[in-house]
Amino acid sequence: MLVCQYNVILIPVTLYNKRTLIMASDLNEIIKMQFNIQAQKFSNWSVTRNDEYHRDYFEFCGINTKDRLLDVACGTGEFALFCAPKVKSVVGIDISQGMIDVANRQAKDQHIANVQFICHEVENIPLESDQFSIVVSKSAFHHFSAYDAVIGEMIRCCTKGGRISIQDIVVYENDNLNNYFEELEKLIDISHHKCVSKDFVVKLFEKNQLAIEKKFELEVDINFKEYIKHAIQSEENQKKIEQLLKMGLNDPEISKNFIIKDDELFFKRNVFLILGKKN
Ligand SMILES: C[S@@+](CC[C@H](N)C(=O)[O-])C[C@H]1O[C@@H](n2cnc3c(N)ncnc32)[C@H](O)[C@@H]1O
Repeated sequence: MLVCQYNVILIPVTLYNKRTLIMASDLNEIIKMQFNIQAQKFSNWSVTRNDEYHRDYFEFCGINTKDRLLDVACGTGEFALFCAPKVKSVVGIDISQGMIDVANRQAKDQHIANVQFICHEVENIPLESDQFSIVVSKSAFHHFSAYDAVIGEMIRCCTKGGRISIQDIVVYENDNLNNYFEELEKLIDISHHKCVSKDFVVKLFEKNQLAIEKKFELEVDINFKEYIKHAIQSEENQKKIEQLLKMGLNDPEISKNFIIKDDELFFKRNVFLILGKKN
């Protein structure tokens, strides 16, 4: 199993090291491989299971009992399952069969029947148009590259007058800082593509004629050790992470984004939330 996992990881690592031009379809292959092997770790991560975050996002989107919810890139289904007892129905869609298997297992264990999980890429969603009163994508845009295709599909699946929302980590304001954390993110999880800016997300909504109803930004502190454990890395990348961390902690500017709480190392990340309406 270990040898098999290692081989699976080595292919994309080599791709990144050679700085090969990676097309969306190649990226999706990396995403599938990576999340298939790290599904259970991702689901066990305290951030994935944080019901306070789920409640905050649920309230931000104004989700209610009349809603039919589509969760785009739903992962192991924790947000979908949090919402399911409070809405009419939920569909979660994700490219990784490993993630979908965990989601289905959790739905079964929790006896939740009004949820359906589908394994498919979200650049073309195999569902009919105008079916969902709310379509969300949480913590996933940093994996995408075909932004227009994904937002186009989110809008197509949404009913007229329905809501569309994106929540995700966004770029650091300063380029030097952002480049540092982008490198770190890719070493921790090779399926990380790149964080977008909140302006980019706002423009994506505007150019797709979505009427923006709400925006919100917050800073979260992420436990570094736990963050590493939520994904799977090759030994080579683990060593690079250690070196990069040392470098960052010694850099006067970068180190300001690391803090110690209760003897544990945390780093700061900004999260952006946006809600719009399909006219
Ligand atoms: C960081 S996880 C977030 C999962 C979940 N939304 C959450 O908040 O816990 C990102 C998810 O996006 C999925 N994903 C990335 N690119 C995708 C694509 N093109 N189509 C479908 N799913 C995708 C991955 O498989 C992974 O499950």
